[in-house]
Amino acid sequence: MPKTDLTIRPRRLRLNAALRGMLRETELSPADFIYPLFVVHGKGKREEVSSMPGVFQLSIDQLQPEAEELTSLGIPAVILFGVPAAKDPIGLENFADDGIVQQAIRELKRVTPDLIVMTDVCLCEYTDHGHCGILNVGMSNVIRRPNENLPDGYLLNDETLDVLAKVAVSHATAGADVVAPSGMIDGAVTAIRSGLDGAGFQHIPILSYAIKYASAFYGPFRDAAQGAPKFGDRRTHQMDIANAREALREAQLDAEEGADMLMVKPALPYLDIIRQTKQQIPQLPLVAYQVSGEYAMLKAAARNGWLDEPKAALEMLTSIKRAGADLVITYYAKEAVGWLKG
Ligand code: PBG
Repeated sequence: MPKTDLTIRPRRLRLNAALRGMLRETELSPADFIYPLFVVHGKGKREEVSSMPGVFQLSIDQLQPEAEELTSLGIPAVILFGVPAAKDPIGLENFADDGIVQQAIRELKRVTPDLIVMTDVCLCEYTDHGHCGILNVGMSNVIRRPNENLPDGYLLNDETLDVLAKVAVSHATAGADVVAPSGMIDGAVTAIRSGLDGAGFQHIPILSYAIKYASAFYGPFRDAAQGAPKFGDRRTHQMDIANAREALREAQLDAEEGADMLMVKPALPYLDIIRQTKQQIPQLPLVAYQVSGEYAMLKAAARNGWLDEPKAALEMLTSIKRAGADLVITYYAKEAVGWLKG
């Protein structure tokens, strides 16, 4: 055996918990988490989503204990998703004053005024066809323009922008602190910014889902929010899973349009994208969404006794932050706080 020079021994710094603790480069804290809430019409409703154990659809009267729990855990923010009473081609409840999300915003601001309320600004939960915008041919609408050569079911970009701006203004009017367009519609940040500014909401930030992949990991969410497309898929607007250069272009464009924060979604299969986005645009806070499928996968393995859930969940969340995310939207927020206190 040739004698190797072992002057350098990285293990010296791992000798005990105190050394490891003071040298840890990435630290998770409750202030890093944003917790998704699904709100539904009705009274006394607290229904567990079957593919997302521990995640519930809540009626408005169930929000107070939930919001108080989050506040007491030190989780600073929620992001709201609504299940409307009725669906139609453009999703009218999405910008109605008494819409489910608008009611939820008002209730949360009443019971926990300091909890940051973010809202998802998209059409998919509200449209009868389940797509994120207005279609040229939907389930009950036909919008054909002359000389147009688009396939049936094509999402009409610019018609959708007007609706997105209306939805954002409606959320801000109800008291939302941050609006988050999630449809990957070109120009959404510009349209929402000018809508908000025109209505006196210059102070409301936009968190753009700038880089959202056409991912298989949204499956369980579509049960929770009842927003699955009735036909087709989202590949004409969400990003191709194989692309990275294009992701940076999307992020750059949204930054130029005035997004205040950027998001990458999903998180774990796209750690490289989180890292590259943070390097390319270090000035903007970066949010990563650990999506429903990431959560469901770990829950399922944990329920079978195949993985140590607290350790695996904190490892996933740490990796997302280590990659470059400043904040993480996660269904694990409440449990993770408990495990961190451990
Ligand atoms: C769209 C939206 C989706 C998610 C967040 N916002 C679904 C989609 O694009 O199909 C998915 C979140 C998750 O899977 O946890 N409004």
